[in-house]
Amino acid sequence: MNTVLVGAQWGDEGKGKVIDFLTEEADVVVRFQGGSNAGHTVVVGDKKYVLHLVPSGVLHEGKHCVIGNGVVMDPFDLMKELEQVESWGFELKGRFHISERAHMVMQWHRAIDRAEEAARPAGRKIGTTGRGIGPAYAAKVGRYGMRVGDILKPNFLDVVRAQVEEANRALEALGAHPLDAEEMVKLYTPMVAALMPYVTDTIQFMHESLEAGKSVLFEGAQATMLDVDFGTYPFVTSSNPTAGGACTGSGVSPRAIDRVIGVLKLYTTRVGEGPFPTELKDADGETLRRRGGEFGATTGRPRRCGWFDAVVARYAQRVNGVDFWAMTKLDVLDEFETVKICTGYRRDDGFVYQTFPADLAVLDRCEPVYEELPGWKCETSHVTRYEDLPENARKYVERVLELVGGKLGVLSVGPARETTLRIGV
Ligand code: GDP
Ligand code: IMO
Ligand code: MG
Repeated sequence: MNTVLVGAQWGDEGKGKVIDFLTEEADVVVRFQGGSNAGHTVVVGDKKYVLHLVPSGVLHEGKHCVIGNGVVMDPFDLMKELEQVESWGFELKGRFHISERAHMVMQWHRAIDRAEEAARPAGRKIGTTGRGIGPAYAAKVGRYGMRVGDILKPNFLDVVRAQVEEANRALEALGAHPLDAEEMVKLYTPMVAALMPYVTDTIQFMHESLEAGKSVLFEGAQATMLDVDFGTYPFVTSSNPTAGGACTGSGVSPRAIDRVIGVLKLYTTRVGEGPFPTELKDADGETLRRRGGEFGATTGRPRRCGWFDAVVARYAQRVNGVDFWAMTKLDVLDEFETVKICTGYRRDDGFVYQTFPADLAVLDRCEPVYEELPGWKCETSHVTRYEDLPENARKYVERVLELVGGKLGVLSVGPARETTLRIGV
């Protein structure tokens, strides 16, 4: 069974937790896009693990973990993370693989990311994670990027020198400090040796695994509304976190995919700038942030919080072809008198948008249309069977499902591994 898992909103839906849960039945877990901008949290016992580049499946011994060709990988972030994973007691040898076709995020990409963000005027800022993601993908599609395989070539350090010179022109134009090419060469030299053992032809590895009947789990990072094509452009990341990206980012054909699971938080959050129709700037928003621990796993920034947006979720269902939903964080809503679901955006002339508009400017003229449902006012984190949930909690979940389509597969009622209800998957 080969499963693609994607985020349905603006990220941080709980993908890490659900991947960890599904890895039990998988043999290979592959990241197919994004980079260390991701922050995927897995809670096991009293330990909290946050993963950025390494697939969240790594916490299961023996499972293979792959950085696919669609990822942009910062070698320093990765080395740090690999050391951390080993310090947690997990063995990586023989089961961690980096695509030689993946592109690298270099120090100058990070510097350009920050300089570009600083240069953007108010209202145009994206609020990037500063991890160099945009410039690394720009280099990739501009055909001047550096692939992981390049570190194996004898001219690697000459290429570093040439690229630094080029990048310095961009940095100077942005009013930022240039980088020292020789310093960069010194920085990257030891890295080459450290990463070499993991670099391989992962396309070959993926296909051998599939031919041997292994189960593959495709771990999406970011989410549908951050997709460079489908999201709230330009307030997006620079990759395709939607289901199609799983194929282009791993070298596996769409024919090999058996199902798509969408991860859907039962309210909405967003980190960084950009439109967010159901955002709450009041006490309810504060309650969601406090109860949900809504602070960025990568940057520590407080996440913007709001009610569940069925327009976004329905759009995500279609774009990804979601078969099953993994709904998360139901418990965060436990203390509300009433809970709201946004079913459309009403424009000032009365027109109601049922699908997410491409032109973000129209959102300034829209108000969300809400349905209000009674809350359940009791703790749900201890519940282990769907039938045992309070009736109003079930009604809320079922109304969401009715509005967005797809089936319910997993329901999460807390951060810990055990607080996961398997329903239809
Ligand atoms: P990801 O980026 O989609 O993997 O999500 P993050 O890890 O960035 O953020 C999700 C946060 O919610 C993490 O702190 C998780 O431990 C936590 N979490 C996941 N599922 C649940 C849940 O059902 N209830 C609660 N209360 N927390 C959850
Ligand atoms: P996970 O995988 C939430 C957001 C940033 C910014 C925009 C562009 O943990 O869900 P980038 O650094 O990618 O150029 O930033 O995208 N962003 C995320 N928001 N979760 C993430 O990942 C994100 N990765 C990027 O905040 O608004
Ligand atoms: Mg996250």
